[in-house]
Amino acid sequence: MELCLPPAVSPLHGRIAVPGDKSLAHRAALFASLTVGESVIENYPDSGVTRAMRNALATLGVPSTLEDGVLRLSGNRWHDAAVVYCGNSCTTFRLLAGALAATGTAAVLDGSEGLRRRPMDRIAEPLRLMGADISATDGHAPLAFRPAPLRGIDYTLPVASAQVLSCLQLAALGAEGASTFRVPGPVRDHTTRMLRAMGARIEEDGLTTRVHPLWPLGALRPLKGKLPGDISSAAFLLVAAAIVPDSRITVANVGLNPTRTGILDVLSEMGAVIEITNARDTFGEPTGDVTLTAASLKGIEIGGDLVVRSIDEFPAIAVAAAFAEGTTIVRDAEELRYKESDRIAAIVTQLRALGADVAEAPDGFTVRGGTVRGGTARANGDHRLAMSMALCGLRAPVTVCGAEILNESFPEFTSKLAALRCGEGADLVK
Ligand code: S3P
Repeated sequence: MELCLPPAVSPLHGRIAVPGDKSLAHRAALFASLTVGESVIENYPDSGVTRAMRNALATLGVPSTLEDGVLRLSGNRWHDAAVVYCGNSCTTFRLLAGALAATGTAAVLDGSEGLRRRPMDRIAEPLRLMGADISATDGHAPLAFRPAPLRGIDYTLPVASAQVLSCLQLAALGAEGASTFRVPGPVRDHTTRMLRAMGARIEEDGLTTRVHPLWPLGALRPLKGKLPGDISSAAFLLVAAAIVPDSRITVANVGLNPTRTGILDVLSEMGAVIEITNARDTFGEPTGDVTLTAASLKGIEIGGDLVVRSIDEFPAIAVAAAFAEGTTIVRDAEELRYKESDRIAAIVTQLRALGADVAEAPDGFTVRGGTVRGGTARANGDHRLAMSMALCGLRAPVTVCGAEILNESFPEFTSKLAALRCGEGADLVK
């Protein structure tokens, strides 16, 4: 599919909501599948990656239904499976790996060609230290799991990755003895919050978490509640409003876990005016309405912990930078090379294809603002790249090839944007 957004001839306006957070959705379905009893989760997003998790759980003996945004799932003992296919969803793959080890389930985890390129030694190695029996080809999917007793470990993660930490936390629930995990930077803590709310004992002290075994795993309590909107989807709408002069939009019910709000800090440092109202807790997570008022953007420097807090948002941040005055420098972000694509190379190549002045560094990139002329960009199988490059079309003639990949994460992207372009106010997701 080719996506070509018509240029914005007037400011974006309106109040809108986005579907539920994918990181929370993956965890909610997976953790609920381990319980005994029915879980009911509202505002559950329906996209390629969330279907990947639901299909994988169905393969393991736990089917679910999704109607009008309500997911219903009854936990059950997992059964062995020949192949559990995780599609393009790395979160599905890595979190399931921990749960397969914890439950002693025999299965082969596999995924799409893109997923097979993602590094899996970062989970296989520590899981093996815990005693897991895993065979892999060259540190990549497929990974074959055979049941084996696990023991608690003390382990420092070499990368600040929530997927890896969550995988190990899940495995630790099924181990003998407690486990201690240290991360080199603050990663999203949804797993700790949710597992604790379900009855697991997890202690947290700064960058260290200590997980106590839970036996049987079915002692976890089922989940009931409504997911906050996905800040990583809201990010595209916020950047759209930030680059179209005089825009003012509100994205309602957005998850505002401080480990995820880097995008708000980045946009506000660049000059956009951001206000949070209606702050509350939803599903054990801070939530609120985010209003962005456009103002002239300026280039900034981004590095350190802010990188992890906005790890998925760099394709969109690069677009804001491309329409800012001055230069934006991103550093400490080598991890971007291990995402759905090598995002440093992809951002640089695709923005350049649109005329932008961009330079690549081993751990980041530099964008000189005001240089986008338009042209054709390629999504390269990366949903966030597809949506980000499409946003450039609001300010210059842009076509994005391979844009159907956006259905993996945010199928509502074009309709939500269209509603804001018409200034329609009431497009709120229930
Ligand atoms: C995720 C963690 C991040 C993020 C991914 C979702 C999660 O990956 O990029 O989109 O839900 O735990 P890493 O943990 O590999 O940084």
